[in-house]
Amino acid sequence: MASSPAHTVLYPGSFDPFHNGHLDVVSQAVELFGNVVVAVMHNPDKPSGLIPLADRVQLARQSTAHLSGVRVDAFPGLAVQAAAVAGAHFIVKGLRTPGDFEVEQQMAHTNHSVTGVRTVYLPCRADQAYISSRFIREIAQYGGRIDHMVPASVASALAGIFGKPSGGSEGSS
Ligand code: PNS
Repeated sequence: MASSPAHTVLYPGSFDPFHNGHLDVVSQAVELFGNVVVAVMHNPDKPSGLIPLADRVQLARQSTAHLSGVRVDAFPGLAVQAAAVAGAHFIVKGLRTPGDFEVEQQMAHTNHSVTGVRTVYLPCRADQAYISSRFIREIAQYGGRIDHMVPASVASALAGIFGKPSGGSEGSS
């Protein structure tokens, strides 16, 4: 395949916490576009986050350290403003379910109406479509096993907050 010039794309999210589904979207985006700015942002619908913003940035950095072309930063304000500051050509979002599509499509149209920035959707891996930060937080809080859904650094951070998981078999994939 002929190589095309690299683009920069913005991947915004709350990443509370960053999980394997996020990592897959970043991997796809870097392969397709060349440069990815992971924007750790505030979601006004989720006012009480679990992990402080600065720690979410650190965890996303550690989780993507093996990928070249990836930068992780916290951004205030709107995703479209973050896209402009980052010099991003597109916003990238991962889709797991039809429900995700409904939410994301409205945001994509709204964002486009504000600054003209386009959103590109990437399908998540079929075997990761069930992974969500909300359920990871909930399971970790009650001591369930989450290590198959998150990078190792995130699993240790959650163990630091809630204690080591008690459910499931340790060492299985
Ligand atoms: O991981 P999430 O919680 O689904 O991410 C949602 C996020 C952070 C991408 C969204 O809430 C967002 O874009 N927040 C920044 C504020 C903004 O741009 N609001 C207008 C949306 S049309």
